[in-house]
Amino acid sequence: MAVRLYFWFSLTPIFWLCPILTETHNYIVHMNSAAMPKPFASRHSWYSATISSVLHSSSSSSSSSSSSSSFPSKLIHTYNHAISGFCASLTPSQLEALKNSPGYLSSVLDSSVHVDTTHSSHFLGLSSNHGLLPISKYGSDVIIGFVDTGIWPDSESFNDDGMSEIPSRWKGECESSTHFNVSFCNNKLIGARFFNKGLIAQFPNATISMNSTRDTIGHGTHTSTTAAGSYVKEASFFGYGRGTARGVAPRARVAIYKAIWDEGNSVSDVVAAIDQAISDGVDVISLSIGIDGVPLYNDPVSIATFAAVERGIFVATSAGNNGPQLGTVHNGAPWVLNVAAGTMDRDFGGTITLSNGVSVLGSSLFPLNTTMGLSPLPIVFMGGCQNLKKLNRIGYKIVVCEDNDGYSLTSQVDTVQTAKVTLGIFISNISDWDNLIQTPFPSIFVNPYHGNIIKDYIHKSSDPKAEVNFHKTILGTKPAPTVARYSSRGPSQSCPFVLKPDIMAPGDAILASWPQNIPAMDVNSTPIYTKFNVISGTSMSCPHAAGVAALLKGAHPQWSPAAIRSAMMTTADVVDNTQTSIKDIGNNNKFATPLAMGSGHVNPNKAVDPDLIYDVGIQDYVNVLCALNYTENQIRIITRSDSNNCENPSLDLNYPSFIIIANSSDSKTGKRKILGEFKRTLTKIGENRATYEAKLRGMKGFKVRVKPRILEFKRKNQKLCFELKIAGSAEESNVVFGYLSWAEVGGRRIVQSPIVVAGMRVQ
Ligand SMILES: *[C@@H]1O[C@H](CO)[C@@H](O)[C@H](O)[C@H]1NC(C)=O
Ligand SMILES: *[C@@H]1O[C@H](CO)[C@@H](O)[C@H](O)[C@H]1NC(C)=O
Ligand SMILES: *[C@@H]1O[C@H](CO)[C@@H](O)[C@H](O)[C@H]1NC(C)=O
Ligand SMILES: *[C@@H]1O[C@H](CO)[C@@H](O)[C@H](O)[C@H]1NC(C)=O
Ligand SMILES: *[C@@H]1O[C@H](CO)[C@@H](O)[C@H](O)[C@H]1NC(C)=O
Ligand SMILES: *[C@@H]1O[C@H](CO)[C@@H](O)[C@H](O)[C@H]1NC(C)=O
Ligand SMILES: *[C@@H]1O[C@H](CO)[C@@H](O)[C@H](O)[C@H]1NC(C)=O
Repeated sequence: MAVRLYFWFSLTPIFWLCPILTETHNYIVHMNSAAMPKPFASRHSWYSATISSVLHSSSSSSSSSSSSSSFPSKLIHTYNHAISGFCASLTPSQLEALKNSPGYLSSVLDSSVHVDTTHSSHFLGLSSNHGLLPISKYGSDVIIGFVDTGIWPDSESFNDDGMSEIPSRWKGECESSTHFNVSFCNNKLIGARFFNKGLIAQFPNATISMNSTRDTIGHGTHTSTTAAGSYVKEASFFGYGRGTARGVAPRARVAIYKAIWDEGNSVSDVVAAIDQAISDGVDVISLSIGIDGVPLYNDPVSIATFAAVERGIFVATSAGNNGPQLGTVHNGAPWVLNVAAGTMDRDFGGTITLSNGVSVLGSSLFPLNTTMGLSPLPIVFMGGCQNLKKLNRIGYKIVVCEDNDGYSLTSQVDTVQTAKVTLGIFISNISDWDNLIQTPFPSIFVNPYHGNIIKDYIHKSSDPKAEVNFHKTILGTKPAPTVARYSSRGPSQSCPFVLKPDIMAPGDAILASWPQNIPAMDVNSTPIYTKFNVISGTSMSCPHAAGVAALLKGAHPQWSPAAIRSAMMTTADVVDNTQTSIKDIGNNNKFATPLAMGSGHVNPNKAVDPDLIYDVGIQDYVNVLCALNYTENQIRIITRSDSNNCENPSLDLNYPSFIIIANSSDSKTGKRKILGEFKRTLTKIGENRATYEAKLRGMKGFKVRVKPRILEFKRKNQKLCFELKIAGSAEESNVVFGYLSWAEVGGRRIVQSPIVVAGMRVQ
């Protein structure tokens, strides 16, 4: 099991190598709170005093004293909950002096994070009549905090019709500022705050165009309404996906912490937002953002979420959009839920009617009604469409391109746009064109089967013509879900011993609220406005999972974040709507491995009653940090505690999934050896006694053993342990997977965990 972490990434992020400059930089500084001298009344006064003494000593000792005094250092953020420390603007010599101050642990240069109906509720099986939705009272006692781009408060999705009073424990507030006053808040939208001091300190010349929680990007409006939007009738994107829009938890309360700006973003502001959310009393945090390629102790977002989880707050994060390569997932901390993105059984499109009367369906999100539906236009097939210059002379209006000779679909779309033809039809066998079909000109995408019908007609007709009608919504498409190509894949570089992503949720072509004064897209260089927009990404799947977590919290207020995560993971679906294993679009539609979809596609109505859970306490996470061989100080940075118990270091976290990164060099020597041994504990949370039997599937070529194979639970809260042993030899670049299911004897419950062995060459 020994793997060197630097195999996948450099432990030294580029920004860590601080150049010797005379200008100031902003640092997030971790301090050991146990070292705070008694006389200080607050952390803030301690940090201020520390900084002013640093300013003093560095300017007196520095040879360039005039330069440091002309760049006065200042405290940007004081953190109270999320991390033990502050963010300050410092010169290199001041930073050096700070390193000798009592209580200093470490610092990282402030950087930025990646911002990675509606029908999705229905697809998740959420019904108003039965199951998790009514059991949880639609999430009405649960508060979800979103760290994002803000919101468009005027959106109907924030109406509070029929909602009860705000839970009295809530300590947050609505800040009045530019185009945002407290009257926008109500029983649905209960908190609105914004954070940009770090951004302004980093870019002093940036003009903040909207200095308030009001969203000028659209992302936060979309994510927050995906998780918790109220009911809005007759929602659609120009007729696509028409229906009553609602979030996953339609009665959950929304608190917005804007830290992502049109002008950029700073990690220090994101941490300040999480700090405030913890203090305000949110139950769930949804983070559709992440930092790539840093170890946990250098990832302020992971550190801040540790504090949140310690307070009992559930944290959902996005896997990232850097798939399908392995090892691209971010937010790899073992204490958060990491969410991959899948497709749904819905397609947006239109009909192409050929003049011989034959119609074929295609995919499209073209918003406008055009004249295309009124009269048939000439249609021409142009192969790969590399050269469209001759078209104007010929006078054809509808151009058909085929994605078969190395000219990428994206390039074809660009070429057709430049050629200014009336309409483009694109034949392609890729099925994940959701990010492409919002073209700025009329277009429609068809599969090779339908493409051949069109080509055949053009070939045989002496005067080929066609017409196209847009605004079709097709439901029940198969197979669904599938893993989206862009969804980042595991293993997590920051902690490869815990399988990430954890779960998959709908992320492709999601319809949710949009600020009505922000263009959703441009059509022929004209901005197009809408109250609901369709967008894709793990940013969209994360709030779906956050919404489900909110419903589970509503149904079971006493459940820990680990219990909620275990319930979601062990009940997730691994088959699609054709009753075969879920497929991965990013891997030639082969069966999706757990490195792509974690435990599977979230199934809320099953998650409400898992009966058994894999529980994890804070010390268990500390045991992992110890076993990662982090130094005492690196562990302190994460736990914010001076004394951490490393007596039982262990990478075998009591997690609902199993992963082995195996040394494939060994297999060359023909060795078949024990690759992994896991010892896990199941806790009975359901009332009645029950017996469970272990079932194993998959893991071809490996020997897998569970001991014992039968677990007899006699009472609630009883804990029973089992061992899982895996032996075999792993091949390089080979991912072998299977499942361990605990099946209720004489019952229907199944508590399932994925098992993965990823063969990698380890020097
Ligand atoms: C808040 O803004 C709304 C809408 O712009 C306006 O009607 C209202 O008078 C404002 N309220 C306060 C207290 O400023
Ligand atoms: C900011 O503006 C000042 C004054 O206009 C200018 O001297 C300085 O170069 C600008 N800084 C940056 C980073 O653009
Ligand atoms: C933004 O608003 C806050 C509070 O209303 C204020 O303190 C701050 O100076 C403003 N910042 C800018 C850049 O206008
Ligand atoms: C487009 O046409 C459809 C059907 O004729 C109609 O219902 C819809 O309102 C039209 N949309 C626009 C944006 O004009
Ligand atoms: C699509 O077609 C190309 C070229 O014909 C082929 O290489 C590729 O494997 C096909 N992809 C799928 C998903 O069928
Ligand atoms: C931690 O150090 C021990 C002892 O040197 C070693 O056996 C183990 O593989 C290391 N763990 C990791 C995760 O690198
Ligand atoms: C991987 O296996 C090879 C061949 O047996 C061995 O030389 C190498 O030390 C192993 N690496 C680790 C990290 O155990």
